[in-house]
Amino acid sequence: MPDDRQWYINAIFYEVYVRAFYDSNGDGDGDLAGLRLKLDYLKELGVDCLWLLPFYHSPLKDDGYDISDYYQILAEYGTIEDLQALIAAAHQRGIRVITDLVMNHTSDQHPWFQAARLDRQSSYRDFYVWSDTDQKYRDARIIFLDTEASNWTWDELAGQYFWHRFFASQPDLNFDNPRVQRAILDVVKFWLDLGVDGFRADAVPYLFEREGTSCENLPETHAFLKEVRRYVDENYPGRVLLCEANQWPEDVLPYFGQGDEFHLAFHFPLMPRLFMALRQQDAGQVRWILDRTPPLPDGCQWCTFLRNHDELTLEMVTEAERQWMWEQYAPEARMRLNQGIRRRLASLLDHDQALIELAFSLLFSLPGAPVIYYGDEIGMGDNIWLDDRNGVRTPMQWDGSPNVGFSTAQAPDWYAPPVSAAGYSPEQVNVAAQRAHPDSLWHRVRRMIVVRKELPVLGWGSLSWIETSSPAVAAYWRGIEGQRLLVVNNFSRAEQEFTLPFPETPVRLEDLLGGRQVSLTGGNELNITLGPCQYLWLKVDLPR
Ligand code: GLC
Repeated sequence: MPDDRQWYINAIFYEVYVRAFYDSNGDGDGDLAGLRLKLDYLKELGVDCLWLLPFYHSPLKDDGYDISDYYQILAEYGTIEDLQALIAAAHQRGIRVITDLVMNHTSDQHPWFQAARLDRQSSYRDFYVWSDTDQKYRDARIIFLDTEASNWTWDELAGQYFWHRFFASQPDLNFDNPRVQRAILDVVKFWLDLGVDGFRADAVPYLFEREGTSCENLPETHAFLKEVRRYVDENYPGRVLLCEANQWPEDVLPYFGQGDEFHLAFHFPLMPRLFMALRQQDAGQVRWILDRTPPLPDGCQWCTFLRNHDELTLEMVTEAERQWMWEQYAPEARMRLNQGIRRRLASLLDHDQALIELAFSLLFSLPGAPVIYYGDEIGMGDNIWLDDRNGVRTPMQWDGSPNVGFSTAQAPDWYAPPVSAAGYSPEQVNVAAQRAHPDSLWHRVRRMIVVRKELPVLGWGSLSWIETSSPAVAAYWRGIEGQRLLVVNNFSRAEQEFTLPFPETPVRLEDLLGGRQVSLTGGNELNITLGPCQYLWLKVDLPR
């Protein structure tokens, strides 16, 4: 069994938007001290590692992904001491904390950019990417298609264009400049010294630019990221780096290097295919993408997820598939953003608990370390009337009281209103009610996590598909020495009856989640009937 340095291989991650979680001082914004007060809740759910969205100084043009000071915490969120107290309290409970590291760009309010734009002779000029024309790097795509017409923006003060892959208020740093590289390593050092357990590294494919390329995934980028890894390993063993690269599996693979770049990377293309398969009632898409997912070097792991703080991205699907996903899941224009869908898990899945549970069954039983987006464990809804991605970043619904258990401030003073859509309001969807109800989504999710933690095979084991007579069924073995788990998921809204072949006659079968009796009908076959959207995790003891 692996040593503790590989804790992340089988960890449950939980993505928290600090502003949304719990407001400890009654100003209408969630804060770090508030999050600390909710650690027992996260412990009870079974979370191993928190991923905190950016909490640094920022003018908030991109909700904190536009950093104006890497070394300060946003006043609304608290202080460095609050963060240290949070980390200490989390560690006491065996929970780790990673934070967002935004290195591709800063805010245009960052003093580096302010100095750079004002003076060509400034030693900071070269911290950013400038040009006299907007015709360079034309093969680089635009990511924020709804708001940006170009990756170049003219800056009056500078008298030149500057390069940006995201909003024009987020100029890209120039990684060809060794001082930029050094400055980012200093940031890494600062937060690791404070005790964070690692980073979710934001937007890493775009660090370097080269003419005639897409300016993504360049060798120079990998070389720098390997340097970050070396620095972390040498000075902070056991801390992790999680890669955000919205790319095909074969393009993400190099981000693991030979086990010497990232420990973890999100599996982006799997996510939309889970939704496709659920709607098509056919498991084929999930199988297709996992079959073209290459094996990883030792010590590496995928992070899988259903939803996150951004739009449900449709960058890793074909144009036809994107149109289909929009038709199916985003019938109203306000549900769409860039190349994606700005809705939450529960509303995408029609608030149907069986379907949401099935999605979690897949998340927790397929390969990868799962990441839960805050609120999805209770099926929180969204608010498509808020702009940008704010509709999926609303206050956590702790209880059904008028203040939702989120803040003592009056709701109009909150950073965002609570969800009010019919079926999703805090009176209808909240933590307290679901904890009190043994059949709630929250209890089912928690149960899956409890069971998962008893089964190292889910973190470490191989995956092999089992053919069944029904395309609506995803059946697979997860296997590791001494442990075998059989998982069956029914994507259909109708009951499915099918037969599963066994390599040998098992001596024991145990239904880990439902506790139902399962037995072989004869020979080495199992006849199974699964109800609509039902799933089954079977522990299988084969003869020794
Ligand atoms: C990442 C973040 C997203 C942000 C972007 C630019 O994709 O997930 O929220 O807008 O980077 O920093």
